[in-house]
Formats: sequence, structure tokens, C-alpha cells
Amino acid sequence: MFTNLVTPFPQDLMSAEIPGADLLSGGFVSHFVVFAYIVAAIFFILALAGLSRHETAQRGNNSGIIGMAIALVATIVLALTSQPARGVVVTAILIALAMSIGAVIGIWKARNVQMTGMPELIALLHSFVGLAAVLVGFNSYLAPDANALLLGGFHLGEVFLGIFIGAVTLTGSIIAYLKLSAKISGAPLMLPGRNWINLAAIVVCLILMVLFVRQDGFTGVGIAALIIMTLIALALGVHLVAAIGGGDMPVVVSMLNSYSGWAAAAAGFMLNNDLLIITGALVGSSGAYLSYIMCKAMNRSFISVILGGFGSTGATASASDETGEYREIDAARVAEMLTDAQHVMITPGYGMAVAQAQYPVADLTKRLREAGVDVRFGIHPVAGRLPGHMNVLLAEAKVPYDIVMEMDEVNDDFGDVDVVLVIGANDTVNPAAEQPGSPIAGMPVLKVWDAHDVIVFKRSMATGYAGVQNPLFFKDNTHMLFGDAKASVEAIISAL
Ligand code: TAP
Repeated sequence: MFTNLVTPFPQDLMSAEIPGADLLSGGFVSHFVVFAYIVAAIFFILALAGLSRHETAQRGNNSGIIGMAIALVATIVLALTSQPARGVVVTAILIALAMSIGAVIGIWKARNVQMTGMPELIALLHSFVGLAAVLVGFNSYLAPDANALLLGGFHLGEVFLGIFIGAVTLTGSIIAYLKLSAKISGAPLMLPGRNWINLAAIVVCLILMVLFVRQDGFTGVGIAALIIMTLIALALGVHLVAAIGGGDMPVVVSMLNSYSGWAAAAAGFMLNNDLLIITGALVGSSGAYLSYIMCKAMNRSFISVILGGFGSTGATASASDETGEYREIDAARVAEMLTDAQHVMITPGYGMAVAQAQYPVADLTKRLREAGVDVRFGIHPVAGRLPGHMNVLLAEAKVPYDIVMEMDEVNDDFGDVDVVLVIGANDTVNPAAEQPGSPIAGMPVLKVWDAHDVIVFKRSMATGYAGVQNPLFFKDNTHMLFGDAKASVEAIISAL
């Protein structure tokens, strides 16, 4: 790949085929672009390294911004200098127009999106990458550039794979968006013989690919094979994600992130753009690794999830509809319990994000610590609606990093905890996960019930994201503090 990086624009090709190559043949622009691509790629790698720890996450984010800015400048310079002189102005206007429209929509969305709406926004953005790969693929087939013509069958293979991955990503991401935003049901679609349907779709696409790459450039058979494959891949994307149940959606979001990376890399091959290949490969592999980590954390089979719920039993909520008596508590009583406690654990969930309760939670933590109480946070890997959701909120409210622990670090400690505050969490603290047959069976959960007292902050007895009843609420040591989480925490602070 790096050999390719150093010589991305073969000189004979440039001078023979690329309009405006005289501008490039001096070598300056070509060398500038190669240099900029390498620097941008390094910044992207630094971004990933930084984002892997919350202490360095902001630095990582800044590296990503710098890398992307460099990549944009280099790409614009390349686009402008590879035009014939009379085309430069039109190209510049088109780029400026496209970037302005994108920037306006991007800034508007970034300002308006709620943290709780991030996963569906991310899913929607992945669908754009998929769509771009499909469009680039068709364009690259219908109007191949000189480099593509030189590569012949190899280029046709790139086009076919790029469109296939892009189309699966496009519709898969749209279904994920619809599920996450509750516009369609989160229940898994269990078509009879669904694994055979997927297998048949892949086999047919493979046969079409062989047929396609054996064509000599543009032919009727070639375009027919491409269109049929695209339709099958679009349907496959819908089916793969529709077959995955709500509880596994976090993995799907990160899996689609990975697919979108591979789709971008495929587009990079088609456009002969090395930076797009590198960036796509970084996104693709880091997304796949994140999905793998999340599958391990949720005790799900990685293969089963990427193959669209393969092997999933499709269990429904009925398996754990355990109910009973529950006890209510008020904020003043919780304040007393906290004052008497030595060890307190806070396990936040999606409800803390909805209520934006992280600021009063940080305040409560500070006060308790000042009073000598040991306070720690136990973070479930899929608490909230996107990976790291709780960590971001707590970091935003300036909760010290060293008391924010991962589930595995604290799960054996609950026996020594006096009071657990379950703030807007439900599925992630649900003991039903330990019952075979439950839709969340096998998913590791925070064992909050082992603590002396458990306070559950929520507004009603409603179920969590997975729609499973939570037997925790009916345990003897559990007390329900009903109300908006932010108001409840503020009331406790006042009572303290
Ligand atoms: P959930 O199981 O979704 O439960 C959240 C709870 O918060 C609900 O029971 C809700 O009860 C309560 N709540 C909502 N708004 C509230 C408010 N303003 N004040 C107080 N309580 C409020 O949350 P969780 O334990 O964090 O689990 C996450 C779930 O989402 C898992 O099933 C996970 O698989 C799924 N998921 C996760 C991700 C990632 S990557 N993290 C992505 C997609 C899906 P009331 O309505 O009664 O208040």
C-alpha cells in the first residue's frame, strides 16, 4: 500500500490521459498531494490511538479534525489541478457549492442532535457512505478513467465488490436508523429459512461477479449483472439488519460502521485514491474490532451478529415477565442512606442521558466524596445508546476518570457496596439475563442486586430498550425513586 502511496500517479498515465496533466507533470502538486496524504493518514492513526482512552479522547478528536482538514485541502488541490484550465473555475464553484451545502447541513445537525439521538444519526451517516460507494461504482463502470481501463478485469472486480458492500451498507444502515429511532419495530424479523436466503443471495452474487469480470469493458450483460447484484445486495442489507433484535443493535451500529469503512476503501480503489483506501481500512478494521469487543462484552457470537442474527433463537420478552411488589422511596430517605454509607456505586444508563442528569450526578458525587464517602461508577459496555455514551456524559460533567470503572472491574465488588444508585439504567442491570430463554440471556449485567441497598431512578415501571421485564425492581433490597432522574438527583442534593 505504501509503495502505491509514493507513486499514486504514474507519469506516463498522467501525461497521456489526465487533462491538465501539464500542471502536475512538474511533480510539485503530485508530491504535495502524496505528502499531504501521508500526513493525514498519520493524523488519522493518532486519532484512533487518542480515542481509545477517555483521558486522550479530546486530543484524538483534534488529530482527526486536522487529518481531515489536510485531506480536504489536498483533494481540492488535486481536483483543481487535474482539470483543463477552462474547467478549473467550474470545478471550484461546484466544490464550494457542495461543501457549503454539506457544511450547513452538518453544522445544523451537529448543533441540534441530542446525545440520545447520536446512534440513529450515525446509522444514517453510514448509509451515505454506502450510497457514495454505489454511485462511485456505477460511475466508475460507465465512465472509467485511464487507470481503470489499464486495470481491466481487476477494476471490474473492484467495481462489483464496492457496489455490493455499498448497497448492503446503504439499506442495512437505513433499517438500523429506523429501528433505533423507533420508526419501525426493534423485534427481529424471523423469516423461515432466513440463513438459506442469505446464503442464496451471496451465491447468486458470486456467480454474477464471475460473469461480470469476464466481460470486456461495458456490455449489456455486464450492466445487467451489476444491476441485478445491486438489487440483491440492497435486499440483503435490509434482511441482515432486520433479523437482528433490539438488544444486539449496538453491535450492528458498530458493524455497519465497519462496513461503511470497507465501502469507502472499495471506493478508494475505484478512484485510485490511496488516502480513501487507508481511511476506509482504518474505519473498517477498527469498527470490526469494536464489534468484536462488544460481542464479547455482551456474550454474543461475532459471526452470528455479522451474519444477521444467524443462530439467534428469536426469544421474546415472555420468558422473564416476572413481576411482584415493589417499594417506593423518596429523595430525603435516599439522602439519609447516602449519608450513612461508606461505599456507593453509581450505575448510569440511557435515562441519565435523556434527563441530562450528568451534571447533578457529578455534583452529588463531589459532595459525597468531600464527606468521605467512597463513590465509584460502574459502566456497562452497552449502557446508553452508543459505545462510550456514559463515559462521554460523565467526562462532560467533569467526573474524575479514575472513579469511572468498566463493568468487569467492579462486578465482583457489589457485595461490599452499601448503596447502588441505578440512574436511568434498566437492561444493563437486569438479572433476567441470567435466565435461559430470556431475549437478553447470556448478556453480562451489572450485579447491583448484590449490594446492601439498590435505588432505581426512573419515571415508571416501563421496560428498558430490549422490552424485557426487570425482576430487580421487585427484589427486597430494591427501592424505586420515581421521577425524572435530574429532578430526583437535585432533590437528593437539596436534602443532603
Ligand atoms: P435502558 O434499558 O434503555 O433503560 C433506560 C431506562 O431509563 C428506562 O427504563 C427508562 O424508564 C429510564 N428513563 C428514561 N428517561 C428517563 C428520565 N428522564 N429520568 C429517569 N429515568 C428515565 O438503558 P440501559 O440500561 O442503559 O441499557 C441500554 C440498552 O440499549 C441495552 O438494551 C442496549 O443493548 C441497548 N442499546 C445500546 C447501545 C449502545 S452501543 N450502548 C446502542 C443501541 C441500543 P422510564 O421510562 O420508566 O423512565
